Amino acid sequence: MSSLIIIGGGPGGYKTALHAANNGLKVIIFEQQHVGGTCLNVGCIPTKTYVHSATFEEAIERQPQVVEQLRAGVETLLSHPNITLIRERASFVDDHTVETPSGQRYTADNIIIATGSSTKYIPVEGLDYPCVVDSTGLLALKELPHRLCIIGAGVIGMEFASVFRRFGSEVTVVEFLKECLPAIDSDIAKRLRKVMEKQGVKFHMQCAVRRIEDGKIFFANKKGQEECVEADVVLMATGRKPNTEGLNIEALGITLERNGAIPVDDNFEVAAQGWASHIYAIGDVNGRQMLAHAAEYQGHHVVNHILGREDHIRFEVMPAAIFTTPEAASVGPSEDQLKEASVPFECHKSFYRANGKALAMNATEGMVKLCCEPDEGRLISCHAYGAHAADLVQEATAYITLGASLSQLRETVHIHPTLSEILIEAN
Ligand code: NAI
Repeated sequence: MSSLIIIGGGPGGYKTALHAANNGLKVIIFEQQHVGGTCLNVGCIPTKTYVHSATFEEAIERQPQVVEQLRAGVETLLSHPNITLIRERASFVDDHTVETPSGQRYTADNIIIATGSSTKYIPVEGLDYPCVVDSTGLLALKELPHRLCIIGAGVIGMEFASVFRRFGSEVTVVEFLKECLPAIDSDIAKRLRKVMEKQGVKFHMQCAVRRIEDGKIFFANKKGQEECVEADVVLMATGRKPNTEGLNIEALGITLERNGAIPVDDNFEVAAQGWASHIYAIGDVNGRQMLAHAAEYQGHHVVNHILGREDHIRFEVMPAAIFTTPEAASVGPSEDQLKEASVPFECHKSFYRANGKALAMNATEGMVKLCCEPDEGRLISCHAYGAHAADLVQEATAYITLGASLSQLRETVHIHPTLSEILIEAN
């Protein structure tokens, strides 16, 4: 029986452990904190609990209950006879061996690094003021901030801006770039930002934060003039960096990428870098796609690779959602990216306001954009914002993964009345 060490018990690590164990591998998984990682404990799950709570008070009451229940579920799953959970930090001794701070050593045929990421701070003065928090700190607040300033209009910044505005905070977002959500279609990003502006979120775009003084955020506006926002809490949402500290990966001779990520090949194997085989890096730590589901599928693929099994996971078809109100979601290249790459395509749009179910739900704000090859050919990408945008994009993901065309999507019978009909209405 082949053996596997997994370092990190987040969604990448624990789901991979289960897949491996169910396929007969002997697994040792190391987790220095709580199982479930950032996603379950201080990321996706707590933030979604906030999104689905009517008030801040309800959110902070429900959050620990939801997290505790899910964590208990993961612990039960990890009690699998083929899995040993070690609640300690692991660091490399050599390419088959790790050790824990207590000095215990463990060896395995294969090792997967799944240590995730942590907040990346920008180098500005004043980060040590107690009012400056990262997403974990924001989720630990017991009182709703009257004024919240968010630095960075990426996924984390936009999700928290949306939910804290709904709870009643005055929210100001300061963003370096021209548009929010740089990773998604700029048309969708702009429309979502406009909706959030109407909800009362203030945006300062093309502004670079210079320094923070207690309760004051100083930034240069696009004309280079200094402006200041006052806030009770400042959220740093300027990206995340791979967690490699303390792993002693230097002992393996791995040279990290410039962004701190562990370089991997298309099997997520570190081996391609020239010296070690049987060591893999999955999830945020390899910096490819910082998404819980990306980590999970990468781990699935790694186990299949270890077992010598082929799979057909299409990692380039990676859907993602932003859980603002309304949601935004996308899969595949944006319209801008397609133009830049001179890919021939056509773009079909439809709006929620023309959909019966959306009208009935009083959720008429939203749009879906489908990009496909000319003449209603193969679907390339889908971008959306509006109620349940993630579910609509998930449907498009299935078509794109299977290589289907826009006409095949349109010829698929859709239930009436559903939001899904927005996809077939795109013209
Ligand atoms: P991000 O990379 O999405 O956005 C960071 C933003 O900060 C960028 O727009 C950047 O231009 C801006 N920024 C950087 N320096 C700045 C400065 N000095 N002044 C003003 N703005 C500045 O990073 P984020 O939002 O922290 O998220 C980290 C990762 O976590 C992402 O990869 C994201 O995909 C993932 N994540 C995914 C979620 C989801 O799938 N729903 C939820 C939360 C996080």
